[in-house]
Amino acid sequence: MALASESRHGLWSGRWLFVLAAAGSAVGLGNIWKFPYIAGENGGGAFVLIYLVCVAAVGIPIMMSEVMLGRAGRASPINAMRTLSAKANASKLWSYVGWMGVAAGFLILSYYTVIAGWALNYVWLTVQGAFEGISSDSAARVYADLLADPLQMIMWQTIFVALTIWIVGKGVTKGLEMAVRIFMPVLFVLLIVLLVYGFNSSGFDQGLAFMFDLKFDAVTPQTWLIALGQAFFTLSLAMGAMMAYGAYVPEGTNIGSTVVVIALLDTVVAVSAGLAIFPIVFANGLEPSQGPGLMFVTLPLAFGQLPLGAVFGTVFFVLVSFAAITSAISLMEPALAYLVEEYNAKRKRVAVSLGVICWALGLGTVFSFNIWAESYIVGELNYFGFIDYVSQNIMLPLGGMFIAIFAVWVVPKDILKKQLGLRKGWQTLLWKFVGGVVAPLGVLAVFVSIILPLFVG
Ligand code: TRP
Repeated sequence: MALASESRHGLWSGRWLFVLAAAGSAVGLGNIWKFPYIAGENGGGAFVLIYLVCVAAVGIPIMMSEVMLGRAGRASPINAMRTLSAKANASKLWSYVGWMGVAAGFLILSYYTVIAGWALNYVWLTVQGAFEGISSDSAARVYADLLADPLQMIMWQTIFVALTIWIVGKGVTKGLEMAVRIFMPVLFVLLIVLLVYGFNSSGFDQGLAFMFDLKFDAVTPQTWLIALGQAFFTLSLAMGAMMAYGAYVPEGTNIGSTVVVIALLDTVVAVSAGLAIFPIVFANGLEPSQGPGLMFVTLPLAFGQLPLGAVFGTVFFVLVSFAAITSAISLMEPALAYLVEEYNAKRKRVAVSLGVICWALGLGTVFSFNIWAESYIVGELNYFGFIDYVSQNIMLPLGGMFIAIFAVWVVPKDILKKQLGLRKGWQTLLWKFVGGVVAPLGVLAVFVSIILPLFVG
């Protein structure tokens, strides 16, 4: 049985469309909401440096593995893993890695759409100038009021899920590609606008110092864990999103260099988001180490004090919403592609069914901020805390490790060489060392240090 040269779902219209789509998946709430506050909490520049090491040593090889497996299998992650393990005469169990990925993506999507809904809500608020000249108490109250109001949250979540269904249902070229063709260029322009705005604010030097001063005394082993987890999440790794997108990559595209471009774009956006956010925060004498509230309390407050703040605040939340939608579609694609393949089902129908299930699962997250806030599933984790923990800290690291091991050690050599264009001996050696040893061991170290404390104390 020869491997297919095209997937039944279609192909990207070229290398750059794949770069845009993959960057669209990677650039999301992880870059704009999480990265700045995590960097803020963990020593600024020193964290940024550690994070870059994780992206280079673990993120890039795992992304290469995923894209390669997708393109070699030319199907959804579950079926790609099935085909390739059969080719290699390896255990059928490998397809469970695909299953775990699809499940993880789905869980992540269920809460991602809720938080993206908050961003939509903030577009609505900033358009009306709701934050102009607001006091810090009132800014905090707007956020608290939203979290306390399930109906309000459900409404925005519903809008966001509907948008995701609509785009994904239209297919690879007419849906996914169309969305990234429009949203990504706009996203880059908006980001540049905000960077210029931050550059001209009085807090720029402080913001720059905050992002790039190497405060190594703030670094602990925990910092490495957080940085690696962030690298996984922000690069959309380990749950098959990149594998699903890899299945649509044309034959001639060089995977290694393309993946490096994608990882660079993602990192540039994360760092730029920090450079856009922190100067505005400092210009208003506010504190950046505020956790998740950074984007929804501190930032609106800061915009509210600045000239043209309503305009730039709106620009910011439109940017966040665009970034979130191009990520959400990549979270749905693996499960959708699988169901279409397995049941020969219509893409639109599958998109609607998956969207509805995901919406229902998301209700748990909505309630986790109000009526279920103190209903704990295990320890101090409520519903949202639990699925966030399990998907991000357990399923992603495990999935990533198995994907790298499979791609380097199980997939037949000829497929590997052809997919990655490995011609020289040193290239193969480097790939085996970084992809097959450094990346899985790095993940293993992180995984053990997360899991072990659960058992020993
Ligand atoms: N990378 C996206 C972000 O930073 C989120 C995301 C999309 C994701 N697809 C994923 C995270 C797959 C983990 C796995 O917001």
